[in-house]
Formats: sequence, C-alpha cells, structure tokens
Amino acid sequence: MSLDTDSTADRTQTAPQVIAVASGKGGVGKTFFSLQLAARAAARGKRVLLMDADLGLANADVMLGLSAPHSIDDVLQGSCGLQDIVLPSGRGFDILPGGSGLHELTTLGTTQQQLILDEMSSLGRAYDMVVIDTGAGIGDNVLYFASASESVLIVLTPDPTSLTDAYALIKVLSRQRDIDRFMVVINQADEVESQIVFRRLLSVADRYLDVYLDFMGHLDNSPVVRRAIQSQSIFSSPDKLPPGLFNALDRIIDRPRDNSRNGGLRFFWEHSLHAALDSELQAAQQGGTR
Ligand SMILES: Nc1ncnc2c1ncn2[C@@H]1O[C@H](COP(=O)(O)OP(=O)(O)OP(=O)(O)O)[C@@H](O)[C@H]1O
Ligand SMILES: [Mg+2]
Repeated sequence: MSLDTDSTADRTQTAPQVIAVASGKGGVGKTFFSLQLAARAAARGKRVLLMDADLGLANADVMLGLSAPHSIDDVLQGSCGLQDIVLPSGRGFDILPGGSGLHELTTLGTTQQQLILDEMSSLGRAYDMVVIDTGAGIGDNVLYFASASESVLIVLTPDPTSLTDAYALIKVLSRQRDIDRFMVVINQADEVESQIVFRRLLSVADRYLDVYLDFMGHLDNSPVVRRAIQSQSIFSSPDKLPPGLFNALDRIIDRPRDNSRNGGLRFFWEHSLHAALDSELQAAQQGGTR
C-alpha cells in the first residue's frame, strides 16, 4: 500500500477523500465525531460533504436540528438529482441525506445504479472530503461503505463490549474486504485511558490480524460534549474544546492520503454496489449448493 502526499493537491480536485466513520457497538459517538470532523475540515478550508448513511434516530441532520426534505430515495425514484437533495448544514459543510435506498443497494436496477454513479461522479467534483457516518454494528451496508472508502475511522469507547465489537468489525473488514489500515479514535476516555484501550486493541489485532492501526487521538467523557449534542451545536473553534478533540481531528485531516484507494465518490459508490451484489451472488450460490 502506498501513501503519497505529493500528488494529493491535483488528485483532490477530482477525487475527494472519502472517510467512513464506523464502530462495532452503537452509541459510541460516530455521528458526533463525523459532524466535528466535517466542521473542522470545513473551518480549515476544505469543501466537505457529510453523507448520512445512518438511519438511526440521532442522525447527522437531526443532531444539527435540520430536517432533510429529500433523501437519496427521491433520486432513485427519479424525482430529483443528487445535487438537489444536498442540504447546507449552516456550519460550512453540506449534508447528503441517505434514505432507505442506501440500505437496499442490491435491489437497485441497472438504470438506477448508472444514474447514481453518474451523479456521484459530478457531485464528487464539488468536494475535497466526504465523511460517511455509518450505522451501528457490522451490518452489510457498514461493510460495503467501509470497504469502498479511502479510509476507515473506527470509533470506540473503553467499554469492553465496544472494544470487542470494534475488533470484530476490523476483523471482518480485514478478512472479508481486504482493508489493512484503520484510523482509531477512543471516545469517552482521557489520554491515559485511551492509550490503554488502544494498546489492548492493538495487541489483539497484532496477534490475529495483518492490519495497521493508527491511533488518531481521544475525546474525554465530558458534559460539554453532552450539552453540545443536546443543544444541537458543534465546536467551530478550539477555544471551548473538550481535551483531545481538536488534536484528533487535525491529525485525521493532516494524515497523508491513501492513493491506492483514492477514487472519490464514484469509486465509493461503484465499490459499494459491487460489494453488495457480490455478497448477494455468494449467498445465492451457497443457497443453491446447500
Ligand atoms: N465524549 C463524550 N462525552 C459525553 N457524552 C458523549 C461523548 N460522546 C458521545 N456522548 C454521548 O453518546 C451519545 C451517542 O453519540 P452519537 O449519537 O454520536 O453515537 P453514534 O455512535 O453515532 O450512535 P449510533 O450507533 O446510534 O448511530 C450522545 O448523545 C452523547 O450523549
Ligand atoms: Mg449515529
């Protein structure tokens, strides 16, 4: 795998960096972290799209107090284009609301697939970074989206279930989807605790898997964060920041891009679809040989 910074500037003009934010266990702070990452990257001059691939209750638009009138479902039904459903967040970045169509990739007809592919290509040209807020768990779509992204950011907390589930997700992505590099953020932990949790994850991953885990930082368990989420606000500057957050965000933003997986939004969509269709085919073949 080659990491290359030199040609990033011209590549990013056509291929935004696509980062999937995932976890094993739900409720660990993925949506919060996705929003902060989008806002911080935007504040640092990047054109950012946050794709809401989580249909849970506290998804990105809800967390910002916005209500999305349209979603990808409307695009799939042909009533509007992808560009028409993009929602300005009012915080410097845009939101692409997912919709249930995103969760039924295998049911899309070829015309719908082609339509979305073409639209994704042109939409991708308008952004430098696309953050995909995925749903909880190791569901098929999380796997498809993560395997189609340039980078995967795993969020976990010190809760033992969260650690086990994060490991399980990394294992599936590495064994079934050939992903060998992951960014890791530990939420709801101070610096010392986050190092302990990360080392625990690293030791088990080193033992059983062939993967690189890059520790990007931590975020304290803080009432400031809880209040920010409740009041639908995000931190736009480091002055009132909870310890660790901005260091982690900046480290993620400054990390060299992975040119071997850098294909932007079209690549993302194409690979998500292929992964979904391949799995369906495999399931059908297994069913047939049973
Ligand atoms: N650092 C933190 N300090 C305090 N509370 C936090 C912190 N991070 C997250 N939380 C709490 O955890 C809740 C869940 O956060 P969030 O919705 O971002 O998780 P999620 O991983 O996206 O969940 P889901 O899997 O359901 O999509 C928040 O509502 C908030 O109350
Ligand atoms: Mg969420």
